[in-house]
Amino acid sequence: MRILITDYDFPDVALEEEIYRAAGIECKTAQCRSEDDVIQAAQGCSGLLVQYAPINARVFAARPEIRIVSRYGAGFDTIHIDDAIRFGVWVANSPDYGVGEVATHALGLTLSLLRHLHLYSRDVRAGTWHYLSAGRLQRVGNLTLGILGLGRIGKRMAHLARNSFARIVACDPYIIDGDFPSYVQRCSLEELFEVSNALSLHVPLNDETRGMVNASLLARMPEGSVLVNTARGALVNTSDLVRALDDGPLDGAGLDVLPQEPPAPDDPVVAHPRILCTPHAAFYSVEAERELRRKAAQNLVQWAERGRPAYVVAAGASRAASAAPRS
Ligand code: NAI
Repeated sequence: MRILITDYDFPDVALEEEIYRAAGIECKTAQCRSEDDVIQAAQGCSGLLVQYAPINARVFAARPEIRIVSRYGAGFDTIHIDDAIRFGVWVANSPDYGVGEVATHALGLTLSLLRHLHLYSRDVRAGTWHYLSAGRLQRVGNLTLGILGLGRIGKRMAHLARNSFARIVACDPYIIDGDFPSYVQRCSLEELFEVSNALSLHVPLNDETRGMVNASLLARMPEGSVLVNTARGALVNTSDLVRALDDGPLDGAGLDVLPQEPPAPDDPVVAHPRILCTPHAAFYSVEAERELRRKAAQNLVQWAERGRPAYVVAAGASRAASAAPRS
């Protein structure tokens, strides 16, 4: 069996190559950016290990030998799931490697914004040393934290933040009341934006959530509030966000993810003084990166040995079947 690592931004893929060597699987590597790159590189490969390369029907139609795609990461918006199901291709991810890292990063951004750490740092470097240099601060213990999407990361964020904020509210229509921790109050989407002094996004990117954080929701936020996004850049309408910072109620935004990564050098978000940006690093710790790479790589080994990966996003056809689209 042969597999392709379509793309990666790790310094090397020695860990993955060792896993495949031990399992008797041939491993090719590439740095694909487009479907065409993948089609060209994936000849003869039954499995793909993917970071950001786009995978959809064009790839499956051109390379029917592909039977499984495993994504480095929890999100799988770079893989067209309906197309994979139509072609009977397994899709796997690695959802639980960095829950603590992302939640800690989101809370770090939230508290930095509320305490104006980015503004103080700018002022001190410019030679100003005064506690009022960065404007007025409100007591965090009096504020409400809102969470959009109370899944693995949203729940961990609530748990970490519960002793810092007066109240935690969350909107997640897809989980039952029993899945809300006792210290988190359920609310509607509109109410979430109306009451949250700090709002952290933890929903997946899909057709329902793309662009959902727009001008009309941002206008509902309390004066002086902050927005944090460690989920996916395309959840937020970026020009609406900049307007809400310049002429609306927002005091700051913390963004680990952007609609285009890396951003263009003249991206107004990167230059905005009240936006605190990190380079899609929320997942990262030495330990989490190792776990991510091991779990994503092993999905392909488990499929080769047992017919299914450990972390199933979409179940594919049995190993013997070919990739003709299902009608
Ligand atoms: P999860 O699947 O455990 O939780 C997502 C939650 O969002 C679910 O409870 C779901 O019911 C809820 N949800 C879905 N649609 C919603 C909607 N329209 N309104 C409100 N709630 C909705 O996912 P997890 O592990 O918590 O990850 C969340 C996202 O974080 C991932 O999809 C990924 O895009 C992002 N992520 C970012 C990382 C980074 O390095 N910045 C690293 C890991 C994940």
